[in-house]
Amino acid sequence: MTSAVIDLRSDTVTHPTASMREAMASAEVGDDVFGEDPTVNLLEEKAAAILGKEAALLLLSGTMGNLVGVLAQTRRGDEVLAGPNSHLLNYEAGGVSVLGGVQMRALAWNRGVFDIDDIAHAIRDPHNLHFARSSLLCLENTVNREGGAAVSVADTDAMCGAARAHGLRVHVDGARIFNAAVSQGVTPARLVREIDSVTFCMSKGLGCPMGSVLAGDADFIAEARRWRKMVGGGLRQSGIFAAAGVVALDEMIDRMAIDHANAKALASGLANVPGLRVDVDRVQTNIIMVTVDSPTASSEDFVAGLASQGVKVGSPYGDTLRMVTHYQFEAAQIPVVLKAAERALGLVTVAA
Ligand SMILES: Cc1ncc(COP(=O)(O)O)c(C=O)c1O
Repeated sequence: MTSAVIDLRSDTVTHPTASMREAMASAEVGDDVFGEDPTVNLLEEKAAAILGKEAALLLLSGTMGNLVGVLAQTRRGDEVLAGPNSHLLNYEAGGVSVLGGVQMRALAWNRGVFDIDDIAHAIRDPHNLHFARSSLLCLENTVNREGGAAVSVADTDAMCGAARAHGLRVHVDGARIFNAAVSQGVTPARLVREIDSVTFCMSKGLGCPMGSVLAGDADFIAEARRWRKMVGGGLRQSGIFAAAGVVALDEMIDRMAIDHANAKALASGLANVPGLRVDVDRVQTNIIMVTVDSPTASSEDFVAGLASQGVKVGSPYGDTLRMVTHYQFEAAQIPVVLKAAERALGLVTVAA
């Protein structure tokens, strides 16, 4: 159903579906710290199976998933390699450094893909006592700050091979891993087959109110469970929100193809609006990067002009802003956004 306000700021703005609300209301629960919440156990089993991993762990957020994921496979004084504009390095309050004593190091990437030689060169000589110990390579898929770029199976496998050859483990921040898999027509399990640890967010394209899942081998997840407890993430009747995740894994993954088609169609329309620049070919999943290049409006004016017409988009950084499609944005709303964009740039009068 279309609503008056169109919110394209993020896929995190989505509200739980009717079937999620029903499942949450009737969820069987228990004390999850005792391992006794049947709905949490079901979610963790289902998630592990979908990702082809031995075990999984429910966490409160993507940030907690990355934090616990990194801390469970590093030691104080280790060095973790991550993309320069990765979420982990930029938007998680330095948690792995503050809480884990881990040093983060930025390694250049091309839309989420590290050069294999660069990985080899970045790994430090473990026998030289001047150096932190390189121990973990962190990927992101899809890459948020690269307009939702989806990293392929071939690139993922190659990066994992290069890391493993030097004894590093590989973590993927898969906040939107299902977008990555669906957009490329591969199973999530195949996409992360060579990965040691993977997170996904329930609260983004899957539409759940909260929660993230971390998956990997059983020993790793046992260690992660201890770290989750340490950072205050051991919950009790968390089946209440895990129930939404169970529904999401059944109902919300395949339909992401609709979000991707809507993003492509919206991007194509925006690319035809004078004063906006959009690289439609770079729109691979549900994120569109729009650059405002107009004599009549700055990016701030454009965002404010859209907001005044009930269309919310991401805050601009520089000339560029982000629009994200999700299950509460429908194809029928694309012309509404396009018309609002023209008005915000002063191309048509407000009454038109
Ligand atoms: C790629 C990526 N990783 C991690 C996160 C963190 O998720 P959360 O907001 O649930 O902590 C986000 C959130 O936007 C994200 O886009």
